[in-house]
Amino acid sequence: MRESEKMRVIVFILFLVALIAFAIDRVTLSAEPRVGLQGAIMPIGKPLQIKTPLGLPPLPIPADNPPTVETVALGRRLYYDPILSADNSISCASCHGPQMGFTDTHPVSTGVGGKRGTRHSPTVINSAYNFVQFWDGRAPSLEEQAKGPIANPVEMASTLDDSVRRLQADPKYVALFRQAWGTDKITIDLVVKSIGSFERTVLSGNSPFDRFYYGHDKNALSASAQRGLKFFTDPKKGDCEVCHTIGRDYALFTDNKFHNLGVGADLQGHMIDLGRFEVTKNEADWGSFKTPTLRNIAQRAPYMHDGSFPTLKDALGHYIGGGNLNPHLDREIHALDFLSFDERDDILAFLESLTAPLPDKLGPPTDLLVKQTTQSR
Ligand code: HEC
Ligand code: HEC
Repeated sequence: MRESEKMRVIVFILFLVALIAFAIDRVTLSAEPRVGLQGAIMPIGKPLQIKTPLGLPPLPIPADNPPTVETVALGRRLYYDPILSADNSISCASCHGPQMGFTDTHPVSTGVGGKRGTRHSPTVINSAYNFVQFWDGRAPSLEEQAKGPIANPVEMASTLDDSVRRLQADPKYVALFRQAWGTDKITIDLVVKSIGSFERTVLSGNSPFDRFYYGHDKNALSASAQRGLKFFTDPKKGDCEVCHTIGRDYALFTDNKFHNLGVGADLQGHMIDLGRFEVTKNEADWGSFKTPTLRNIAQRAPYMHDGSFPTLKDALGHYIGGGNLNPHLDREIHALDFLSFDERDDILAFLESLTAPLPDKLGPPTDLLVKQTTQSR
C-alpha cells in the first residue's frame, strides 16, 4: 500500500470513530427531550399497550401522553411517595389507597396536619374513562386533576414549584425522569403526565358480574346477585341503570353526567355544597354531582360526595326513601319503598359482585414501602 493510501484509510477510520462517538453521545449522554404536537414533551421509553379487562371499553389515551413502561413506573412511584406533600407526610395513596378500592375510609378527606376537606375522596379506579374529573367535573383531564391536590392547602399543602424543586434535588428522581422523558429538567407537566399514565392502569373489570354478563359464565353470579342485576336495570324496580350505565359490550356504571339526589340537603332542602353549580353557575346544576362508577363499590365505604352513608345498605336506603326533597331533585329519583326486603338484599348482592381483585403492580413500589414503614415507626 502506498503512503497516501494509508493516510486515506487512517483518516477514514478516524472519521468513523468520531461518527460513532457522536451517535453514542446523542443517545446516552445528552438529555434531549422528544418534542411532539404543539411543543409537548413526549415519552422516550418503551411504549406500553395497557390491556383492558373484560367489561371495559378501549382506553382513551391523550395524544400528547402515550403510556410507556418508564412513565407508568415513574407515575406509580410518585403516586405513593409523600415527597409531593409539604411535610413529606401525605401521598395520593393516603386518600386513594388500593386496599380501600382507591379511596379512603374518612367521610371527608384528611390532608397535611390533619386538615379536613369538604368532600369524600372518589375512587381512582377507572377514572381514565371519566369525561371530566372531580365530583363537580371542574378538571378536564387526569393530568390537570393531579395538580389540584398537590397545591390544595387541606390536601398535600405544597406548591407546584416546591414539589418540583424537591424532586429535582433527588438524584434518583432525576435519573427516572431522564429515562422516562429524556430530560434532566423536571417540570410539573411531566410529573402530572407520569401520574396520569399510572392512573390509566388502575382498571377494574372481569368481576363476577362481567364474567356472567359479558363472559356468559352462568355460574359466575349467585342467584341472588342475578335477581339483583334485574332489579338494578328494571325501570319498574330499582331503575339504577339510567345513571349507572351498563352497555352492550361494556359497563362503566356511570353516565358521566351530573345529578341532584339531595345528598347533604337539610329538611328545608338547603344544601351546603352546591356541586356542579359552583362550576357552571347554571341553575339546572344546583346541588348536582357526577355519577360515580360502582366498580369495587363494596370496598369503598363511606359513600356519596360527603361520605355521609357509612354502609352500602345506608346508601341504598337513600334511594328507597326517594332522595332528600329539594327544588332541584333529579326527575329520575323517586321513592322505591315498594321494593321488598328480599329485593333490596338482592340489589346489595349484585353491587357486591362488582368487586374485582386488582393486579399487584398497582400497589406501592417495594423500596418505597420499606421507606414508608420505617418512617411511620
Ligand atoms: C387529602 C386527600 C387527598 C389527596 C392527598 C389526594 N386526593 Fe385525589 N381527591 C380527594 C378528594 C376529596 C377528591 C374530590 C374533590 C372534589 O370533587 O372536589 C379527589 C379527587 C380525585 C380524582 C377525581 C376522581 C373522579 O372521579 O372525579 C382523582 C383522579 C384523584 N383525586 C387523584 C389524586 C392524585 C393523583 C393525587 C396525588 C397527586 C391525589 N388525588 C391526592 C382527596 C385527595
Ligand atoms: C338520577 C341518576 C341516578 C340514579 C337513578 C341512581 N344513581 Fe346512584 N348515584 C348517582 C349520583 C349522582 C351519585 C353521587 C351523588 C352524591 O354524592 O351527591 C350516586 C351515588 C351512588 C352510590 C355511592 C357511590 C360512591 O362512590 O360513593 C351508590 C352505591 C349508588 N349510587 C347506587 C345506586 C343504586 C343501587 C341505584 C338504584 C336503586 C342508583 N344508584 C340510582 C346517580 C344515580
